[in-house]
Amino acid sequence: MTIDIVVLPGDGIGPEVTDEAVRVLDWFVQHRAVPLRMQRRLFGSAAWAAERSTMPDATWNAIMAADALLFGATGSLDQTHIPPDERRKGSLLRIRKGLDAFANLRPVKAQPALAESSPFKARTVAGTDMVIVRELTAGMYFGTPRGVETQPDGTRRGVNTHSYTEAEIARAARFAFELARTRRGHVTSVDKANVMEAGRLWRDVVTEVHEAGYKDVTLEHMLADNCALQLGRAPTRFDVVVTDNLFGDLLSDCAGAINGSLGMLPSAALSAPREDGRRRALYEPVHGSAPDIAGKGIANPLGAILSAAMLLRWTANAPAEADALEAAVQAALDAGARTADIAMPGETVLSTRAMADAVIAALDAGLSEA
Ligand code: NAD
Ligand code: IPM
Ligand code: MN
Repeated sequence: MTIDIVVLPGDGIGPEVTDEAVRVLDWFVQHRAVPLRMQRRLFGSAAWAAERSTMPDATWNAIMAADALLFGATGSLDQTHIPPDERRKGSLLRIRKGLDAFANLRPVKAQPALAESSPFKARTVAGTDMVIVRELTAGMYFGTPRGVETQPDGTRRGVNTHSYTEAEIARAARFAFELARTRRGHVTSVDKANVMEAGRLWRDVVTEVHEAGYKDVTLEHMLADNCALQLGRAPTRFDVVVTDNLFGDLLSDCAGAINGSLGMLPSAALSAPREDGRRRALYEPVHGSAPDIAGKGIANPLGAILSAAMLLRWTANAPAEADALEAAVQAALDAGARTADIAMPGETVLSTRAMADAVIAALDAGLSEA
């Protein structure tokens, strides 16, 4: 059975890091017979430049038919030349919604070799191993009414709506509890129940789901502002963190500091299982297009490569291969491989390509030991 992967490199450093993730996946096709078939497609600004459409029909159809997407990054500095309707058509948010990929897993694991690259104390971050489950298809990103309107006095007013239904909260909560059962059995649910009605509902529904079927998992509630603090103060206290779309976005960037760079963090966005039991899936590093370093070949590809490991685990059903890839990333870091974002003064700095080479060398070494 072939697994069809649509590769969407996107903007900025997206193509640079995605090329390396594809090269690593090709290693598994060649050496471990993982049956992946990868096809590259343009969308967004790159597709607009090439075809005057941010989402050509062929790309959308390929996305909807694929077993999974491997996504680079979106966001070019200047999109003002693209009509607003076209910008929306080719947006990452439309893809997430189209896939109904509501469960966004953002794992954060402290790499022992990077303890000094973290702005936090080594003893604070050591042993951190958590997964943020960010609800990805509702909340502030999608709520209506939304827009900018001109008021009677001629001044403008911007509106977005933080909206959650019970069903949207419950499925995120269930996903988090199920995931916790495969880990250390602890869920921290994060909201602003003290100020927002939708936050109050979030807390109530998570509690109800817990009471109804997950009493074996421990549940704590935490306010989002305190959670931002605790991620820097005591990150080892977290196992699974479940939160809404906007807080999940902010908190995962905060967690990026644990290994010293956002370039280290992977993600997977999953739908509910379909009739055949398989989930639609979108794999992407947590970082964006990083216009400040794009085109220089210096971006850290490990977030993208670890996203490829999540693809092996969740879509290819190849946990041993996923473990092997995560171990190869750790081995490369342990051996001193560093891109600029995680290097300490005096350390040798590798290019994007050379960092991926170090991971592939570690995979080759594992193969010759096996
Ligand atoms: P960013 O994540 O692109 O960059 C934040 C900082 O982290 C920058 O200093 C950047 O150089 C650094 N960084 C990010 N990835 C790195 C990597 N792999 N290696 C080394 N350093 C890395 O966020 P931003 O600058 O706020 O946003 C830039 C654009 O990206 C915006 O248009 C934004 O909308 C978009 N964005 C897209 C995604 C996505 O595609 N999923 C995520 C975040 C931001
Ligand atoms: C992320 C990004 C996206 C988000 C942007 C690019 C829409 O920041 O994946 O974290 O806000 O979800
Ligand atoms: Mn983000």
